[in-house]
Amino acid sequence: MTLDERIETIFPKIEDVPEKFFLKSSVSQKEYLINGELRVWEGKTQEVLSPISLVTSSGLSKITLGSYPILTENESAEALEAAKIAYNNGRGLWPALPVYDRINYMEGFLKRMKSSKKEIVALLMWEIGKPFHEAEREFDRTVDYITNSVEAMKFLNRTSSQFVIEKGIIGQIRRAPLGVVLCMGPFNYPLNESFTTLIPALLTGNTVIFKPPKIGVLLHYHLLKAFRDSFPPGVVNTVYGEGSQVITPLIVSGEIDMLAYIGSSRVADILKSGHPRPHRFRAVLGLEAKNPAIILPDADLDITIPECIEGSLSFNGQRCTALKILFVHHDIAGRFLDKFSEAIGNVSIGMPWHENVMITPLPVTGKTEYLSRLITDARAYGAQILNPCGGKVNHTFMYPALVFPVNKHMRLYSEEQFGPVVPVVPYDDIEVPIHYIVESSYAQQVSIFGNNQDTIGRLLDVLVNQVCRVNINSKCQRGPDIFPFAGRKDSGEGTLSVSDALRAFSVRTIVAATETAKNKTIFQRIVRERRSNFLSTDVIP
Ligand code: G3H
Repeated sequence: MTLDERIETIFPKIEDVPEKFFLKSSVSQKEYLINGELRVWEGKTQEVLSPISLVTSSGLSKITLGSYPILTENESAEALEAAKIAYNNGRGLWPALPVYDRINYMEGFLKRMKSSKKEIVALLMWEIGKPFHEAEREFDRTVDYITNSVEAMKFLNRTSSQFVIEKGIIGQIRRAPLGVVLCMGPFNYPLNESFTTLIPALLTGNTVIFKPPKIGVLLHYHLLKAFRDSFPPGVVNTVYGEGSQVITPLIVSGEIDMLAYIGSSRVADILKSGHPRPHRFRAVLGLEAKNPAIILPDADLDITIPECIEGSLSFNGQRCTALKILFVHHDIAGRFLDKFSEAIGNVSIGMPWHENVMITPLPVTGKTEYLSRLITDARAYGAQILNPCGGKVNHTFMYPALVFPVNKHMRLYSEEQFGPVVPVVPYDDIEVPIHYIVESSYAQQVSIFGNNQDTIGRLLDVLVNQVCRVNINSKCQRGPDIFPFAGRKDSGEGTLSVSDALRAFSVRTIVAATETAKNKTIFQRIVRERRSNFLSTDVIP
């Protein structure tokens, strides 16, 4: 079969779907979690369609995966009330619990979560088109993240269990929760990225209102009961629906203490500016990026090509960390482009259950049309598509496009495409990519490909003051999750990692006293007689 024909017949018939991956039933979610109760919604719902269509005798047919509630301002207000009561100005059961007990609750949740792996992985495949192996990786990575966060929490607790004596003052410094946290994750990592904020927010003693992303929402249904059963009432509450209905009222109430949002800077700005007392409103934000690769003239193409293919095209380029523009030195451009085009031809395309598939249908409505417009615009300014069938569309599927030469007049030069389109800019002077990075609205990561330690050393010294991670002969990526993940400019605010997140969702707090004999005795008695959860020398093993 030719490549054209493979793309034209990319969607399966029902009998082509392996039984193992067949969704036995749709998920008609009526429930939402508030104050430890699964309340039943009788109002409007949102139908969820899969990006995967099936070939039928009457053409392509969309698959309905289920539906979820479109809540209103009223339910959102109930969620806020429940979270506030559970927090109770820091006096609620959850924020006042010893860390050890919160960890026990979390471990109970983790156990329940692990039993839902099959259903969650299946929905990751059908809701967002994530390849099976990557969906499994997302689930396992999230489990590891929770386990590692628990260990980091124990470590933080151990290291804060000592007393500090300085200039006649004795004190114990620990971390205390901030209040009610609003967590909102993105569609491309609907489980993992949501949980990289939700889990540390909970572990540090905050109560949470969680809004799953609009796409990738049904998979969370399988965890609702686990949330209900694993945590005290009001500690986790969920809302669904239009942001203007369920999120804006929360923000303008001024009662949300912290926003953890992974999405666009446009929405982040709207949310942040809606708070009546902005100085009280903390935020951790993971936003857009346009991570460049700089391919130096001496780059080893046997390393560079696979890293750039993975970096730009894994999960269709729908990663905030994806390589979204490649700067290639003129001396190596010809060889690089030939090999890159050939490598695209070897990338596996198809449905999420196909082994090692990289390119699958795209879940965002209108995405292939948007990407096609970017390609048309680039062509109008003189670019060509270098690989066979590049940019060919079949409904929600787009075959990767290698676009060259890209220049600053094209939208692809500065817009975050978040899809399988790879723009390549040729350069002679290293100041060209440096200037691009300095001028860019985004500043998350960069990859340098080259062989000379002197050139790389000098270049990375320039780049570390522009972005938050410089990768050498390696694609851009978030992991391993113990590494700090951050962005400058429009790419983010705050730092996430297993240990950084615990800090982001809490504030350093000290209990201090003048070092008198009387105060020492009070401290000793509080500790010895276990009169306080905060002031304690207990060490969690
Ligand atoms: O979409 C942004 C993700 O945090 C990227 O994570 O680099 O591990 O794919 P990743």
